[in-house]
Amino acid sequence: MQAIGIDIGGTKVAGAIVDEDGGIVRSSRRPTPARDGDALVDVVAEMIAELSGGEHAVVGVAAAGFIDAAQSNVYYTPNIDWRNEPLREKLEARTGASVVIDNDANAAGWAEFRFGSGQLVSDMVMLTIGTGVGGAIVAGDRLFRGGFGAGAEIGHLRLVPDGLPCGCGQYGCFEQYGSGRALQRYANEIADQGGIGLRLNAAREAGGLDGKVIGDLILARDPGALAALRRLGHAIGTASASLAAVLDPQRFVIGGGVAAAGELLLEPVREAFLEHLPARGYHPEPDFVIAEFVNDAGVVGAADLARIHLAERAR
Ligand code: BGC
Ligand code: NA
Ligand code: ZN
Repeated sequence: MQAIGIDIGGTKVAGAIVDEDGGIVRSSRRPTPARDGDALVDVVAEMIAELSGGEHAVVGVAAAGFIDAAQSNVYYTPNIDWRNEPLREKLEARTGASVVIDNDANAAGWAEFRFGSGQLVSDMVMLTIGTGVGGAIVAGDRLFRGGFGAGAEIGHLRLVPDGLPCGCGQYGCFEQYGSGRALQRYANEIADQGGIGLRLNAAREAGGLDGKVIGDLILARDPGALAALRRLGHAIGTASASLAAVLDPQRFVIGGGVAAAGELLLEPVREAFLEHLPARGYHPEPDFVIAEFVNDAGVVGAADLARIHLAERAR
C-alpha cells in the first residue's frame, strides 16, 4: 500500500507518495510560511489534496515538535507557534484522509533504520542537525516514543548549566550548542576574533554568514569555518557520550543540513565522544555515520510510520 508522507521543515514543506519499500513515487514541495501556524495548516492540507488527487489516503505528517501519544496533537513546537494544536483533527476534517502526526526527527530516524544506514543494527540514535537538534531512538528494533509520546527530544538535553535560552523555555539545551544555528553563531564569533578564518571574515563583511556560505567555506577547508565546525562537533560528541551511557546504541546516525560536511563533522564528534564516554576503553564503541537519505528521510519515514500505525489501528 502506498502512503503519503509530509515533512514540515523550517524553510520548506516536502511531501511525497511513498511505496512500501521507501521509494518515492511522486513528490511536491512548497515554502514554509514563517512561524504562522494557521497558514502552515493550509499549506499541508493543500499538499495532501494535491498528492491524493481526491482519493482516500493514508498520511503521515512529520512536525518539528513535541507530539502526543495518540499521534494527533502537537503539544509544543519550539520554532513554530503551535501550542496544543489539534493538527490531525484539522487535517482529517479538511482532506478526508487518515492522518497520523509524528515528530520530524522520529520520522527521519525511522527511515534510516528501515531503509538507510540503520538497517543492520537493533539499537540506534539519530540526531538531525538543522535549525534545531532533533532526536530519534530505536531500541530493540522499535521506535521509542515515551509514555506521553514526546520522548526522544534529544535537542533539549541540558548540556550547559545556566547556558543560553532555548525555544523550549529552558536554558543550556544541546540544541543551542549543536544545531545549524549554533554553527552560525560559532562562525560569527570566530570572525569577530579575527586571526584565523580570513575568508570567514571577508564573507561576513560581504553579506553575512548564513548556512549556505558557511557550508561552502567548510567544503573549501577554510580554517575559520572548520574551527566553527569543530566546536559544533564537540557539542554533538559530548552529548552523544551521555546518550551512549543511557541508550547504548550500536550506531549514531547524523543527518540534517550540516551532515553535508561528512567526515569533517564526524571527526570532532568522535573525538569528543571518546573523551567523554563513561567506562571509556571498556564500553564497546558505537560507530558514527552520516545519514543515507539526503532530503527525503522525513517524508519516507512519516509515510512508513503512518502505514504501520493505521494497520495496527485496523487490527
Ligand atoms: C524540536 C524537536 C525537533 C527538532 C528538529 C527541536 O527544537 O523540539 O521536536 O525534532 O527541533 O526539528
Ligand atoms: Na524525536
Ligand atoms: Zn530546549
